[in-house]
Amino acid sequence: MKFFIDTADLAEIKSLASSGLLDGVTTNPSLIAKSGRDFKEVIKEICSIVPGPVSAEVAGTEYEQIMKEAKVLRKIADNVCIKVPLTPDGLRACRHLSDDGTMVNVTLCFSAAQALLAAKSNASFISPFVGRVDDIGWDGMQLIADIVEMYQNYSFKTEVLVASVRGPLHVIEAAKMGAHVATLPPAVLRSLFNHPLTDKGLAQFLKDWQGTGQTIV
Ligand code: E4P
Repeated sequence: MKFFIDTADLAEIKSLASSGLLDGVTTNPSLIAKSGRDFKEVIKEICSIVPGPVSAEVAGTEYEQIMKEAKVLRKIADNVCIKVPLTPDGLRACRHLSDDGTMVNVTLCFSAAQALLAAKSNASFISPFVGRVDDIGWDGMQLIADIVEMYQNYSFKTEVLVASVRGPLHVIEAAKMGAHVATLPPAVLRSLFNHPLTDKGLAQFLKDWQGTGQTIV
């Protein structure tokens, strides 16, 4: 399973990139606004830190505007992945961009039917938002299971990118289902390390080691 990080915070991206665990980055207009930085500059910097796909979302909603913005964004770096909304215009743009060799991430997916349309539009990634589905009392992980099953039935090349992830259980469940990618807020990625028995065991090993009076180097 690939791990993307869902942030436009450069300090976080640099720190997590050095862990060797990062396969890509996703951003959205809300995350860019939160960064307080210029959109195109931030994307350029992120692309220079992380070699994998870096999702940059268009702001236009109509086909012509989406295509104009996509042309500008994809020139920033080879690893820019154009993020388009799951709308008729977004999917039309997706088809043209994909056919042209540009990576496309279709975002704001909330149903299996929408995911089917994105795969048929040749998307590189489909982003179902599990946390936001859970928020309205539906089952976000069931949505992932449905999409993974559907894509496997037809060997679609579109990768399932689990988005709006809120905690480690979303990640584990998605991995068990065979989702290709999860995009994680930095805190969720860090939380995957945590286990109280690891902390307890390490403390005991260190204490016992000190008791030997030895050093390794
Ligand atoms: C995905 O690409 C989105 O940026 C993101 O996962 C949305 O998450 P949220 O529901 O926590 O805003």
